[in-house]
Amino acid sequence: MALYSEKVMDHFLHPRNVGVIEDADGIGEVGNAKCGDIMKMYLKIEDGVVEDVKFETFGCGSAIASSSMATELIKGQPLSEVRKLTNKAVAEALDGLPDYKMHCSVLAEEAIQAALEDYESRSGKKV
Ligand code: FES
Repeated sequence: MALYSEKVMDHFLHPRNVGVIEDADGIGEVGNAKCGDIMKMYLKIEDGVVEDVKFETFGCGSAIASSSMATELIKGQPLSEVRKLTNKAVAEALDGLPDYKMHCSVLAEEAIQAALEDYESRSGKKV
């Protein structure tokens, strides 16, 4: 079996939603101290729904694939659903990651949750 699924390779080679949202409503930046990789998520929120999401990931292929898949999973979703997104769901949507690469999907979960918290503190609204 190949080390990485076709979906991981696809999202690594053709990442979706890369970039910056200048007037984002919530921004989350997280890093992994061990590998040094950094992920930043930008959320545009309208009526309690993720209207747009973009990311910048300075990291490994699995982190790029995880952020790309995570943005696809939350785009158009209500914030209550986004709140429940786990790294496991991201990894499953990618048809799995090798065990020692699971921490890369954790960055995606953490970046999105950090962006939600930023949105809460900026807007004064509870998700
Ligand atoms: Fe650090 Fe993948 S090796 S996020």
